Amino acid sequence: MNKLLVLSLLATLGACSSKQGEVVADGAENYERYCAGCHNPGPGHGGTMLLAEKGAPVPSLIGRKDLDYDYLHSVVRQGLIEMPPFRPTELSDTEIKQIYDHIMAQKLPPAKAQPAKNKTP
Ligand code: HEC
Repeated sequence: MNKLLVLSLLATLGACSSKQGEVVADGAENYERYCAGCHNPGPGHGGTMLLAEKGAPVPSLIGRKDLDYDYLHSVVRQGLIEMPPFRPTELSDTEIKQIYDHIMAQKLPPAKAQPAKNKTP
């Protein structure tokens, strides 16, 4: 009986937390909107191409294992050479964290997961 009460209470709380009709962008959407154009894998993405030129083993953000949140956060806030900074009115700290979590949760398609190995030993 008690269990049922707790369950229905949780269900009610869940229903309250998302206002009806309001679409809240999550990490995936914000990544697509603000970062993907420059940072998706493959040619035609400025950030990816520049990082590839600099010799990054994984030039896209997705698929990186070495990105830490504090670094990503400071790059997003301050910009980095060619990359424009984002103000808190454009992306909140929470949204940056969600973008980071989204990036870390993604995997590169298998064909692109390997760094290019053109050189024969
Ligand atoms: C207009 C294109 C552009 C957009 C939009 C953009 N970036 Fe960048 N980003 C770049 C470029 C170019 C670099 C490489 C800068 C350099 O080293 O000269 C870069 C570098 C970075 C780096 C550093 C990578 C490293 O290895 O040092 C991170 C982290 C990063 N971007 C995250 C993001 C995130 C997160 C977003 C979305 C909120 C974003 N960027 C949006 C162009 C962009």
